[in-house]
Amino acid sequence: MKKLIICVLVTLGWTGYAAASGDAAAGKDKTAVCAACHGATGVSIAPNFPSLAGQGAGYLIKQMEDIKSGERKVVEMTGMVENLSDQDIADIAAFYASQDAPLGIAKESSVKIGQRLYYGGDVEKGIPGCTACHSPTGQGNSLARFPALAGQQPDYIAKQLRDFREGDRVNDGDTRIMRDIAEKLSNKQIDALSSYISGLR
Ligand code: HEC
Ligand code: HEC
Repeated sequence: MKKLIICVLVTLGWTGYAAASGDAAAGKDKTAVCAACHGATGVSIAPNFPSLAGQGAGYLIKQMEDIKSGERKVVEMTGMVENLSDQDIADIAAFYASQDAPLGIAKESSVKIGQRLYYGGDVEKGIPGCTACHSPTGQGNSLARFPALAGQQPDYIAKQLRDFREGDRVNDGDTRIMRDIAEKLSNKQIDALSSYISGLR
């Protein structure tokens, strides 16, 4: 019985620890080199550089690991993540996750197509709505590691959708969640979605 209790405590303690192991203050000190592109608090000012502020820690960790291993190719970040330890990655993720996400503004012309696709998908083309995974307000689902999209740079969102479509981004796992969806999106739909999504709140 004693053994069992210790076992349970260790297991609970471990998962608790793993989820909370990032230290945001330590992470801030490790992001000096990242600030040039991602902004001091993770709010990017360049259209092709993603904002990281307010993003789920689990998603951030996965992306840093994927970029480090080469599973996701980001040439701009060559030499920047290779030397980060698991602890560095957890700390950096905790820092960005604790920052306020930026607010975007959707182009009026994107709302009709974007809104319909985001919430209802496109039944004819077999495209599911985005809301189930990325949430009605675009906050994502941090436990499931579904990324937040609200406030993200629209050009960056569009590039990701095209990269998934063309097979230039392949780190969405064996289930190919995003590749299968993006393959069915037209350029017009991608442009509308990207602007609409960036204005979600
Ligand atoms: C020279 C510019 C540059 C620097 C410096 C840089 N990045 Fe990036 N980063 C990018 C670009 C560009 C992308 C997106 C590439 C793409 O289109 O897929 C990116 C993507 C990311 C992503 C994935 C975001 C998402 O929403 O999927 C994370 C996480 C990230 N960077 C973390 C970092 C960290 C941590 C550092 C510092 C150690 C850093 N970056 C330094 C340019 C940079
Ligand atoms: C079944 C769940 C699911 C649905 C539905 C879904 N997504 Fe995703 N999406 C994901 C996951 C998971 C990822 C992260 C993949 C990874 O780990 O790299 C993602 C990533 C993304 C990214 C990249 C975010 C970044 O910061 O780089 C964009 C953009 C995106 N999705 C847009 C959409 C749009 C637009 C739709 C609707 C047309 C949609 N998604 C529907 C699960 C989903």
